[in-house]
Amino acid sequence: MTAKKRVAVLISGRGSNMQALVEAARAPDYPAEIALVISNRPDAPGLAWAKTQGIPTLPLNHKHYESREHFEGQLQSVLEISKIDLVALAGFMRLMTAPFVDRWRDRMINIHPSLLPAFKGLRTHEQALEAGVRISGCTVHFVRPEMDDGPIIGQAAVPVLSSDTAETLSARVLAAEHRLYPRALALVARGLVQVDGTVVSTQDAVNAEINQEQVLGSPSL
Ligand code: GRF
Repeated sequence: MTAKKRVAVLISGRGSNMQALVEAARAPDYPAEIALVISNRPDAPGLAWAKTQGIPTLPLNHKHYESREHFEGQLQSVLEISKIDLVALAGFMRLMTAPFVDRWRDRMINIHPSLLPAFKGLRTHEQALEAGVRISGCTVHFVRPEMDDGPIIGQAAVPVLSSDTAETLSARVLAAEHRLYPRALALVARGLVQVDGTVVSTQDAVNAEINQEQVLGSPSL
């Protein structure tokens, strides 16, 4: 078997997506290992959890750096020293500069709690409810300098119910995130995802593998 890809997960808080990645990566045939968890908030609950699992963790408090560039310089050093192949953002609440993002082009992925390109930014579930959409979901994509932008690797859809609040919708989407993110990371780690300009041109079989059980209302399912 080829060597597992070394993944750093960047978080800022709860870290439930990071936890889903860690749990998936326990499977012997999973193509990636979570080699490092970094949080820009030292008190992030996710960081404490990762520590209890024996995963190398690093608090990297952005407030201790005079600029975004200095913070990212330190981050880059740590990623290099740790021989990281892929970066997975999981609720990481810092915007990154274009040079840093470009350095990790097609090697850094993010999960966002909407069906992009709809509802970028914060308060995604409120945005979805205000727009009256009947289906929402989540997206895993390669990171580009623009916020919540980049080639889409996979999406999972969930229904929006008329009784939904931002909290209930968020919980339903979060459960889908926990299923989607490990599958998306596995495909990237296996080298099965090709980027072609602004889109992913992955084979249909791979697309079906990641997206099929999630798609609602598709006549073929
Ligand atoms: C998730 O909804 C993720 O999509 C978004 O931030 C939230 C992080 O949650 N980017 P958690 O820290 O993974 O629990």
